[in-house]
Amino acid sequence: MYSRIAGTGSYLPEKIVTNADLEKLIDTTDEWIRSRSGIEQRHMAAPEETTSTMSIEAAKRAMEAAGVTADEIDFIVVGTTTPDLVFPNVATFVQAALGIHDTPALSVETACSGFMYALSIADKYIRLGEAKCALVIGADCLTRIMDWSNRSTCVLFGDGAGAVVLKPSEEPGILTTIISADGQYRDLLYYPFGVSYGFDQLRAGAPAGLTMKGNEVFKVAVNTLSRLVDQTLAKAGLERSDVDWLVPHQANLRIIMAAAKKLALPMEQVVVTVRQQGNTSAASVPLALDCAVRDGRIQRGQTLLLEAFGGGFTWGSALIRY
Ligand code: UT7
Repeated sequence: MYSRIAGTGSYLPEKIVTNADLEKLIDTTDEWIRSRSGIEQRHMAAPEETTSTMSIEAAKRAMEAAGVTADEIDFIVVGTTTPDLVFPNVATFVQAALGIHDTPALSVETACSGFMYALSIADKYIRLGEAKCALVIGADCLTRIMDWSNRSTCVLFGDGAGAVVLKPSEEPGILTTIISADGQYRDLLYYPFGVSYGFDQLRAGAPAGLTMKGNEVFKVAVNTLSRLVDQTLAKAGLERSDVDWLVPHQANLRIIMAAAKKLALPMEQVVVTVRQQGNTSAASVPLALDCAVRDGRIQRGQTLLLEAFGGGFTWGSALIRY
């Protein structure tokens, strides 16, 4: 038994912030942002939008594409770094908004690789016969946790959500997934306050923003993703030439190009959304997937390699016969 993607969906907030807009806010240039990251613009959630409202929209679109109704969904998992509340978790908000009852609903907090972790978990539930129709979402609202005076981070991130519906299938399907982490790197990419640590300072109004040593993260990301590509292909018993599409995490165009080179894939076979969306964290892989499915590039029967890397560090991949 395999799990198979029955439909994809995504949501991007209406408001677009261009590099030119940021030039007016901080000491940066369009040229610097484009050349270092590839980013030209990003979407920003409106004040009334949250990770869960974006998740709900993406989920509705994925369910419509899959032709499933709310009463068929029996498992909901959301990867996110920026939940609406400390609790209840975002998946329960999605569950309630869609009128779903009495199903597992959980969130995983593995930063930018949240969707890869969520997909891997849902895949196991389907393969074991414990779920028949899983909603898997990656969603983040990172613009809310930026220090908007820190030019080395605030130019990089955007908001959005992506979703897939997974159903059982005798044909593959998700061929394999890998999820992993190495906690020794926590100081290279983190948010400085949480609940059981620093909450009192946050309440007292201490300045806080996502903190990243960008060039050090860059090096570990490129090396880890390069190794991950090999590991994923070996686990599934496939060759580089079997991959039709790379659907990578969209943190930096240069990291994406390094992964494509490792696969010997021309950039025409790589889904790139980082220019228009920036780094949407856990949303970036399902957003890219939905984009290429809806514009017709990704076709049924093709082989896709999805991968992501994020704070922790955490990382994950999936090799999929779409
Ligand atoms: O999604 C989770 C994983 N995250 C990632 O994978 C991100 C990985 N890292 C990166 O993508 C890149 O390291 C960045 C895009 C964040 C930065 O690119 P870089 O080539 O590594 O630049 P840098 O951090 O080494 O900074 C180079 C220079 C510095 O100036 P000095 O010290 O050389 O004088 C920065 O102060 O660029 C300066 N700088 C800026 N200049 C203009 C930093 N941010 C900006 C800015 N505009 N926005």
